[in-house]
Amino acid sequence: MGGSARAAAVRTMTVIIREAGATDLPDVLGIERVSFNDPWTVGMFAAHLPPRVGAQFLVAEKSRAIVGFALSQTVMDESELLNIAVDPSARKVGIGAELLDAMMVRCTKAGAATMWLEVRASNASARGLYESRGFVSAGLRKRYYQSPREDAIVLRAELGLAVRNESVTEPVRGLVTDRDERILSTASHLPRQEIK
Ligand SMILES: CC(C)(COP(=O)(O)OP(=O)(O)OC[C@H]1O[C@@H](n2cnc3c(N)ncnc32)[C@H](O)[C@@H]1OP(=O)(O)O)[C@@H](O)C(=O)NCCC(=O)NCCS
Repeated sequence: MGGSARAAAVRTMTVIIREAGATDLPDVLGIERVSFNDPWTVGMFAAHLPPRVGAQFLVAEKSRAIVGFALSQTVMDESELLNIAVDPSARKVGIGAELLDAMMVRCTKAGAATMWLEVRASNASARGLYESRGFVSAGLRKRYYQSPREDAIVLRAELGLAVRNESVTEPVRGLVTDRDERILSTASHLPRQEIK
């Protein structure tokens, strides 16, 4: 299947965002290894599965296949997005945005007011995703990454603002509810999405 045909097929299928479990780790590791030069180990992923306090580990599932994942850690009122990737065959149809939206809502529910992350300066696709979700530059870590050596841009998003994302049909204020999460999840590219 060619790139555009594959993208069209992915677009018409239901994508479910749910919490990761131990049985998802082989698929997550496969996506990690094709996405990064310096991939996390299976142990690093396993350490973020329940019952780790403050960790959120989500996967995107389509037709029973794992097509993406996202991880964060929340301490007090701050969350850090630790990792996010989408399988190359499923990119650019909105799955990364679905994962990030779901993660931002869950971190808000966990008590975070701000989300932080680091991204390679040259990673245009990730920076585009983050900017589309309201992240702004908050600093620079010189020569932070290896393989290849590169600066990291530090980005920050105010989670209250993210919940009031203008793409949401009705403005959402105050406490985030399950209903609000579904409103957010239907606001982006995919025709339908379910959140456990
Ligand atoms: C970054 C990544 C997760 C994006 O996932 P995705 O499913 O392709 O992203 P989406 O389709 O949801 O795109 C959401 C937005 O991100 C931006 N974006 C996505 N791909 C882009 C690209 N190649 N160039 C520029 N912007 C891009 C766009 O703003 C897009 O919104 P639009 O479609 O309305 O223009 C994916 O490219 C990936 O897995 N990259 C490798 C791993 C990685 O770099 N992770 C981030 C580490 S910090």
